[in-house]
Order: sequence, then C-alpha cells, then structure tokens
Amino acid sequence: MNSEEQNKVLQAWQLSAPYWDKYRALITQMFAPLTTGLIEEAEIGFGHNVLDIGGGSGEPSLTISGIVGPTGSVMYTDPAAGMVESTQAEAGRRGLNNVQFRQCSADDLPFPDGTFDVAVSRLSAMFFADPVIGVREALRVVRDEGCVSFAVWGPKAANPFFSTINDVFDRFVESEDPDSDAPDAFRFAPRGKLAGILENAGARNVIERHLNFQVEAAMSFDQFWRLRTEMSESLRTKMAGLMPAQLPTVKQAAADAAQRYFVSGKMSFPAEALIVSGRKPAV
Ligand SMILES: C[S@@+](CC[C@H](N)C(=O)[O-])C[C@H]1O[C@@H](n2cnc3c(N)ncnc32)[C@H](O)[C@@H]1O
Repeated sequence: MNSEEQNKVLQAWQLSAPYWDKYRALITQMFAPLTTGLIEEAEIGFGHNVLDIGGGSGEPSLTISGIVGPTGSVMYTDPAAGMVESTQAEAGRRGLNNVQFRQCSADDLPFPDGTFDVAVSRLSAMFFADPVIGVREALRVVRDEGCVSFAVWGPKAANPFFSTINDVFDRFVESEDPDSDAPDAFRFAPRGKLAGILENAGARNVIERHLNFQVEAAMSFDQFWRLRTEMSESLRTKMAGLMPAQLPTVKQAAADAAQRYFVSGKMSFPAEALIVSGRKPAV
C-alpha cells in the first residue's frame, strides 16, 4: 500500500471514530467472543503487560484491563486520533488507571524491544499498511517466547452481519471489486493467509483457530440498519451515492434479507472468525 492509500484508510477510520464511540457498548457486547478468544489464545492473566494494536473504541484493551489487574498494564494503540481520544475518555470515566494510550500505527510501534508479555489485535490486522511489517513489529516489542495474537474475520459468506446489507447495496450502487489484498474486513479470510504472514515475520508455533459464534444484541432491524450505515465508511459512501427516492427500497430489501436474524426484538447473526497466534523465538 502506498502512502496515499494508507492515508485514505486512516482518514476513513478517523471519520468513523465518532460512530465507534457512540456504539462502544454494543461493539463490546457483539464481538465479546473475539476478546475471549484472544485472551485464551494469548493466555493473558493477572500481572501481564499487554499491547493492543488497533484498539479502536477500546476492545480488547478495556476488558483486558480488568484481567491483568493493578499489577499488570495495557498499552492501547491506534493510528486514528479520534479513536484514541474517545477511548481515553472512556477509560477515564471508568476510572481505569492501568491503561496507557499511544497514537501509532502497527508498522512503527514506538516501544523498545521486549517491552510486553503479549501483543493482541482485534479486527485490525486487515487494515495494516504492510501486514508482515506489522507482525514483525508486534514480535519485536514482546519478550522472548511472548505471544502475538490476531483476530480477523472469516469469509464474507459466513458473516451475514456484514454481507446482508452490503450485498443489497451492491445491487443498487456500482462498486469496484476490491483487490484481494486491499485493506478490507475479509482480507485475511482465506485459511492460512495470516498464519503464513506470521511465519514469514518470524513467529514460531503458529496456530490458526476457527471461531464460530453468534453476533447477538437486543436490537430491532431499524437499529441494526442505523448502526451498520453509520459505523461503516463504505456504507456511508454508498448511502451518499443513492438517489433519495431509492433509499426506502434499499432499506426494505435489506430488511427482507435480514428478517430471519431478528426474532422477538433480538438480533442473532452466525459469525466466523480466525484467531491466528504465534510466539517470538527465544534467542
Ligand atoms: C475494525 S476496527 C477494530 C477496532 C477494535 N480493535 C475492535 O475490535 O472493536 C479497526 C481499527 O484498526 C485501526 N487501524 C487502521 N490502520 C491501522 C494500522 N496501520 N495500524 C494499526 N491499526 C490500524 C483503525 O484505526 C481501527 O480503529
């Protein structure tokens, strides 16, 4: 990715930050199984010093803060200033004093070698400018034998939380087919792709775990529609490309496609993610 493309990615996340702040509680709840999966894979426990890369609106940092306790610490990082500011404010509201904040990108982590016990990253690796460099940096800043662990989405078809609305928009608004290695939620869906990157970056004992779970919350289709069309930069752009008269038709088509995932005021989508982990070799 050249620097112009990288700036575009960062600008999109910066514009998304207010919506991620707005929906923080739902994001925490809906994707909690990914946080649990990362904590288990990286064996995070009391007293550990943990790095979170691309922490967005605060997960998994804010949950891990409670697990590592007062003798441990969490270093939250994200390159989008809006994400850092809103998460720092949230940590302040919660009175968390074992979380620190740095605005930085995965490919240039401002920490000395071996600073952390563990590095984790939830749903962010797919946006790294150069994933091999990002993983190499994560390995550099963990201690020898320290774990690096990344949660990424599985295939689009197995994740109707995203595809249901996206596919309907694609019927109405022309969009280019993204390059299969462009920064995108499904960049690391192919089995073995991120695991290969960890191996190339020098990780040992690389493991790819498949996680099937339900994305659940007490939510109507209308609330889901608002959440998705606000949080996603690509949907915001596609909305802007619709003629106003088309909007009710698109929304109704999405409601029809999503109907089976909304029962008695509850949303429940099946989801598939990968948790890819490895260890820094001992010297
Ligand atoms: C889908 S959000 C995930 C946020 C959070 N970890 C979560 O799971 O809710 C992706 C995050 O990756 C961050 N990001 C984008 N490019 C990045 C990079 N080069 N290095 C680190 N993080 C990046 C974005 O700013 C955004 O906060």
